[in-house]
Amino acid sequence: MQIPEQYFKAGKVARELRGWIRQNLGVGTGLLEVAEKVEAEIVRRGGQPAFPTGIGVNDVTAHYAPQKDDGVKIRESDVVKIDYGVHVDGYVADTSLTITSNPSYQPLLEATERALQAAIGVAKRDRRIGEIGRAIQASAKADGFKPISNLSGHTVEQYVVHAGKSIPNLYSPGLPMLNKGDVFAIEPFLTLGDAAGYVVESEQENIFSVVVRKRTGNKELDDLVDRVWTARKTLPFSPRWFAQGYKEGRLMALLKELEKRRLVHSYPALVEASGKPVAQFEHTMTIEDGGLVVLT
Ligand code: CO
Repeated sequence: MQIPEQYFKAGKVARELRGWIRQNLGVGTGLLEVAEKVEAEIVRRGGQPAFPTGIGVNDVTAHYAPQKDDGVKIRESDVVKIDYGVHVDGYVADTSLTITSNPSYQPLLEATERALQAAIGVAKRDRRIGEIGRAIQASAKADGFKPISNLSGHTVEQYVVHAGKSIPNLYSPGLPMLNKGDVFAIEPFLTLGDAAGYVVESEQENIFSVVVRKRTGNKELDDLVDRVWTARKTLPFSPRWFAQGYKEGRLMALLKELEKRRLVHSYPALVEASGKPVAQFEHTMTIEDGGLVVLT
């Protein structure tokens, strides 16, 4: 079985963008600027953003996507995770890297990259998901760090970023196998050895997705769902992509209402429970007849 070629296109864009990010973004860049530039580069290279660019500074671990009014800039002391995805016709390549100018966090970054490589090494010869988690955990421990226990990798499907199978970052028994033709992302998040090692939800919500396209009978709500569905189907989106034509605060109020009616799902930003810095590296890959192929 051959996976759709769009996965390879999306993967190539994601891969090439990694070098561009390292060269062009860093200390002094605003978080909003990072997101907008990454998303513009994805489009310029022939893809579409699969989800709003996630920018996790220090203990902010996942699902933080800057809104229009975000004034934060990257500082020299920060650990910054840039998690971005490319889709071509809904086929998703999900990847991330962590950057820092703080030498004291360099070992954390290196250990996280090593944990990802250890996981890929295991996935090459063993499709048991539990063994991938075990490899991440062992690699992190050997380096004196700890994986975030309640975040995991995941399979992807057309227009779905987090599909059926989770790939935990610790050993977990009783999970399904990865099969030939599965496309999946492995994404270890590592934190300091004395950290709590898990994430909790914050108050911030800036990533949304449409769950189901259903009429509400309210024209303003229905129009918004239509616009989002046309552009995104079930893929996550940022309010800043749909802000045009709304007065201050109106769009967020509509999204809140759609969330209450269960037509829209929101993803709160996740932060490390003890406030410790977290690093993340991620690749999307697939299993073909010839073995494991890293797409990103
Ligand atoms: Co992912």
